[in-house]
Amino acid sequence: MTAPGSAGAPPRLEGRAKVTGAARYAVEHPVDGCAYAWPVPATVARGRITGIDPAAALAEPGVLAVLDHRNAPRLGDVDDATLLVLQSPRVAHRGQYVALVVAETLEAARAAAAAVRVSYAAEPHDVELDAAHPGLYTPETVNGGFPGERAHGDFDAAFAAAAVRTDAVYRIPALHNHPMEPHASTAVWLGDRLRVHDSSQGSTKVRQTLAGLFGLPEERITVVSGHVGGGFGSKGTPRPQVVLAAMAARHTGRPVKLALPRPQLAAVVGHRAATVQRVRLGADRDGRIRALSHEVVTYSSRIKEFTEQAGTPARSMYAGENRRTTHRLVRLDVPTPSWLRAPGECSGMYALESAMDELALACGLDPVELRLRNDTRTDPDSGRPFTSRGLAECLREGARRFGWAGRDPRPGGRSEGRWLIGTGVAASGYPAEVGPSRAEASVTASGRYRVRINATDIGTGARTVLAQIAAEALSVPVDRIDIEIGSSDLPEAPLAGGSSGTASWGWAVHKAGRALSAELARHSGPVPEPGPVVRVDTAEDVAAMSQEYARRAFGAQFAEVAVDMDSGETRVRRLLGVFAVGRVLNARTARSQLVGGMTMGLSMALLEHSTMDPAFGDHAERDLASYHVATHADVLDVEAHWIDETDDRLNPMGSKGLGEIGIVGTAAAVANAVYHATGVRVRTLPVRPERLL
Ligand code: MOS
Repeated sequence: MTAPGSAGAPPRLEGRAKVTGAARYAVEHPVDGCAYAWPVPATVARGRITGIDPAAALAEPGVLAVLDHRNAPRLGDVDDATLLVLQSPRVAHRGQYVALVVAETLEAARAAAAAVRVSYAAEPHDVELDAAHPGLYTPETVNGGFPGERAHGDFDAAFAAAAVRTDAVYRIPALHNHPMEPHASTAVWLGDRLRVHDSSQGSTKVRQTLAGLFGLPEERITVVSGHVGGGFGSKGTPRPQVVLAAMAARHTGRPVKLALPRPQLAAVVGHRAATVQRVRLGADRDGRIRALSHEVVTYSSRIKEFTEQAGTPARSMYAGENRRTTHRLVRLDVPTPSWLRAPGECSGMYALESAMDELALACGLDPVELRLRNDTRTDPDSGRPFTSRGLAECLREGARRFGWAGRDPRPGGRSEGRWLIGTGVAASGYPAEVGPSRAEASVTASGRYRVRINATDIGTGARTVLAQIAAEALSVPVDRIDIEIGSSDLPEAPLAGGSSGTASWGWAVHKAGRALSAELARHSGPVPEPGPVVRVDTAEDVAAMSQEYARRAFGAQFAEVAVDMDSGETRVRRLLGVFAVGRVLNARTARSQLVGGMTMGLSMALLEHSTMDPAFGDHAERDLASYHVATHADVLDVEAHWIDETDDRLNPMGSKGLGEIGIVGTAAAVANAVYHATGVRVRTLPVRPERLL
């Protein structure tokens, strides 16, 4: 792993606490008198519970209670039906929770959960996606609030008239988040107050949801997410374990800890929905795109509409006046899909960037050159200019660093012993979003600055970067900043998601720092005691952002693969990415995010795969022994770089998010390199040996 040039960037403030084990995660906080819970998942994919017999479970030593839809506390209504746990005898998918055991120990809870007898009236289920499934419809909006369908010009006519055409279908299987720390919560009721430690990407939303479910004013709830062991989107919304833990604690009168067992995660914390994507490109002989169509077919569950917005990146990546992007959704008896790192962009760009490679070959053009020819200063979807668009610079800089020049485009032309060698490229992109946030800044007589905001550090380095932003705004050294994040008692802030955390929180921290600075400048002499406290809100600043511009980050990914000509095994020898993400605030944590995203993309390209079992109606790979993610031995050489990009139309820091863009395009770069090595175009991920032989 190459990690040049992090010198001078502050290391993570909590790094030492994490590597020494002092940092506590959601179920590691010591709590007196704590009980433990273990959920019982449904074993049918669709139907109704006809009976639950808890007698054998209750007879186990140490068991305190068995909750099910008959005795569990009634919940108020919220906008997310996946959280209405143990409220009804209906089963909407296999793995949905039907009961919860609470016991004195984790072991007792687990043993008793296996002893709960549940009977069902099962109904026929329908769990398999296909592109011609009855019941497919076009949702009005897809994830992110984008329209389900967009059209400009006349795709059909332009495609029919195009000199060069490609038309192919690409498939991505369901993929799982699997953060290192599972979804976990500790819930404690103190009279009519609820205190929760939750492994979440945003405790503001968790508090709001618990208030709705338990009929409490938000002031009586505290949700703490101090250290979080990853999430990748699956912790961006509250998950059933926090509701179950709070229910169990209320029911038993005991504090309750609940860490979801990993084999249960696939069914209850969301996943990247499988997609079937048809991409048609029509171009002039010189490679200029005249017609672009991206049609996405995917699914959601019966209880919640979630549409993977895989058609959206094609709306903004390349020039071309005739385009159509559509999403079609079918509701199946499956677990509800949700966010997984770069939802929409990651899935869609695998298909689009594979299609671009096919178009380059069809036009006889270098694939870097093809992308440069279709670059645009204006977002083709909205017609607005980009605040900055570094795609061309990323492609050129990446090609230079990777050693792309002189590449022979013909497939199968290079080998070393039994290894066929190939190289590939793909572009990446991600929206540069920002949301309103609050923050507070104060100063003590000893000259330390205190900054408070309910940001969440899910392992990204957010805590450290926010301290840097505060120090810069206050013009003081970063070691004079005390930053407090990760509790819903702090000033309200949005979640760590959509690559918008640093921009959103940072804006508020910057504003608070500046306001405190101005306040202090009004005093001469020593800081008064108590010192001034400033509270800011960026709602107006964010609302006043110019609507005249489109805001996106861009990148270019280059891959070199070696494919064993006998076994079909693929090794990614090198991955090199160059990104245009505005100003990079901390080279160390930024590089980690980009390299992490690229590594996850490599994993998606070669290994990650979830099978929907048609008989049971469930994902078959439910642990890390069966759901393969890349390990160190799979990841040989990953380099992330960025170009200098100054963009003053974003936020006071000039930054674009970079938590997700690293995974975008990676799988296409790898698959394109595999084609170059072998002459076999893999249009179904992952690139497995049997698909090459
Ligand atoms: Mo990201 S999938 O928005 O946490």
